[in-house]
Amino acid sequence: MVGSAVLLLGLVPVVLCQAEFAPPTVNISLDVDPEVRWMPLLEVFDVDYLKKAAAEVIDSTVPKWVHHAVEPVVMALEKYVPQPYAGEIRGMASYMGGSLSDVIILNFAYEITAFCTSIVAQDKNGHVYHGRNLDYPHPVLRNLTVNIIFLKNGEVAYRGTSFAGYVGLWTGQSPNKFTVSGDQRGYNSNILFQLAGEGDFQDAVIRLSKIPIITGVYYIVGGVRAGEGAVITRDRVGPADIWPLDPVNGGWYRVETNFDHWLPPPSWDHRREAANKALNATGQDNINMDTLYQASVDQSTPITVYTTTMSAAAPERYNTLVRPQVITLCLKCICLHSQFLS
Ligand SMILES: *[C@@H]1O[C@H](CO)[C@@H](O)[C@H](O)[C@H]1NC(C)=O
Ligand SMILES: *[C@@H]1O[C@H](CO)[C@@H](O)[C@H](O)[C@H]1NC(C)=O
Ligand SMILES: *[C@@H]1O[C@H](CO)[C@@H](O)[C@H](O)[C@H]1NC(C)=O
Repeated sequence: MVGSAVLLLGLVPVVLCQAEFAPPTVNISLDVDPEVRWMPLLEVFDVDYLKKAAAEVIDSTVPKWVHHAVEPVVMALEKYVPQPYAGEIRGMASYMGGSLSDVIILNFAYEITAFCTSIVAQDKNGHVYHGRNLDYPHPVLRNLTVNIIFLKNGEVAYRGTSFAGYVGLWTGQSPNKFTVSGDQRGYNSNILFQLAGEGDFQDAVIRLSKIPIITGVYYIVGGVRAGEGAVITRDRVGPADIWPLDPVNGGWYRVETNFDHWLPPPSWDHRREAANKALNATGQDNINMDTLYQASVDQSTPITVYTTTMSAAAPERYNTLVRPQVITLCLKCICLHSQFLS
């Protein structure tokens, strides 16, 4: 008799033997012409790798057969990209050796596929902390993550975390003024720091609430003083809702994912609840940069690319770490054949 045992295993998430790591940092000077401003990227990224990775992101966002069809549309759109971003995109295309339309599509791709969680929290002493997970369904972005220090007159104007080839910023801080992250609410053309301006927390909240944008977005903003933290829910013309910290009444943190905070999230999305649970477990007595990082990591998803923690009053503690890649192995077809004689 021949016996055969079939072992069925489900989908097993496996963390590869790769640790979290800090992305490279580049200095980008705003005093330099937009078309050459991003050249320093090539000091930390290999051009061939950049091209390959960009092609992967584009192909997984825009199907190949649509790609050529959209080219004329994309080129027409270029007229509507405001300066200095149009110049920056043109420059990026020239030194990445790609076509201009590809770099524009890449910038759109970075904007339309982002899912995020942002947290702003205040400790018992009034220190405000800001955490965020950036989720993207493209594993290759782990290797494109980059910290950018924007310099103006040789001073740090703001810093943030982005992806090589993208001229916008979803996560960043203006030192000793405010921290800000954007979470997608439908499609969004997000040019965070142009919108946020150069003032303090109050100015940033007012500007981020009012300036017309292409569609909705959530802006999560933290300041330097107690009580300075808010989630701004935006529609195209103005604020749909502003949800400030309210520590006196127990509101010592605010969590925003990609759904309006006053509505329940879809049943398949547990990120908000996971974050609330992690923060409740941490408690206001114990919240700080390290515990906020841990709480963010605890509720990261398999597609979380990076986690950032920051605090406007302590700009030197800005920290971004790229999450290890989690791959889902299909093990359901492992068959153990055991033969034995009777
Ligand atoms: C980036 O700019 C900062 C601030 O001016 C400076 O301290 C640092 O050395 C620069 N780093 C590089 C790699 O040029
Ligand atoms: C990222 O880079 C590492 C080391 O260079 C490489 O082993 C890995 O395959 C890359 N990951 C992706 C998703 O391209
Ligand atoms: C977190 O704590 C708040 C305040 O006590 C409570 O209203 C909320 O239900 C808790 N959330 C979770 C997910 O535990």
